[in-house]
Amino acid sequence: MTTNSGDIVISGLSYTYPDGTRGLADVSISIASGQSVAILGPNGAGKSTLLLTLPGLIFGTGRISIAGITVSPKTVREVRKRVGIVFQNPDDQLFCPTVYDDVAFGPKNMGLSADEVDRRTENALSSIGLSGYEGRSSHHLSYGEKKRASIATILAMDPAIIAFDEPSANLDPEGVHGLSTVIRAITKTKIVVTHDIELARKLADRAIVMREGLIIEDMPMKELSGNKRRQRELRLFFD
Ligand SMILES: Nc1ncnc2c1ncn2[C@@H]1O[C@H](COP(=O)(O)OP(=O)(O)OP(=O)(O)O)[C@@H](O)[C@H]1O
Ligand SMILES: [Mg+2]
Repeated sequence: MTTNSGDIVISGLSYTYPDGTRGLADVSISIASGQSVAILGPNGAGKSTLLLTLPGLIFGTGRISIAGITVSPKTVREVRKRVGIVFQNPDDQLFCPTVYDDVAFGPKNMGLSADEVDRRTENALSSIGLSGYEGRSSHHLSYGEKKRASIATILAMDPAIIAFDEPSANLDPEGVHGLSTVIRAITKTKIVVTHDIELARKLADRAIVMREGLIIEDMPMKELSGNKRRQRELRLFFD
């Protein structure tokens, strides 16, 4: 079997936080390169915890393989070239004096030439509608602009896999629409954690539903979005 750069295989993954709280319990998922997956489920289900395990920001028991590389403290550098996470809060992603510096930070860290860093930074900013923002202070942007800048920091590293943690949170309707257009245009393996089933319908082919650290459903997004009864059972929809 060939392994593509955007393949993810998770088997028997469990994670318990240092205070004893269970984050993930025996999670197994395979995601093929180029697939777009929504991760749904109530607060505290383990969605963000799962994202943190992918680039080895935390290590559980079990196995995660990214593009055929087993995630471990020894491989994190290689793995992080392949997986980018857009955190829910853009302030967790932006820490440089200017937008340009924030977006250039990742490519610089990858040891790329100055020309290549510049090319990637400008391309990432332009693809997200932030050309002209290079000299602005990241911390003086509006929330929606910060969100786009934080996506640009990941796009500039050109990872094969991008995971978004609640990308639509705190955005106005136009912001959600703009963001979903941007995310839809990204042709990589995408994982989108969201409470917004409408956004999930627009962005994902597959729905994975979590609760209490477990995967409780894994089905085509189309099927889930057309099945209100199943959404109610999974506590994704209330009326
Ligand atoms: N740093 C931490 N220390 C201890 N427990 C934690 C920590 N972070 C998360 N947890 C716990 O792990 C479980 C899973 O949390 P996680 O943040 O992954 O949920 P989530 O599905 O992302 O929820 P939300 O929709 O609210 O963002 C919860 O019980 C949570 O309280
Ligand atoms: Mg979360």
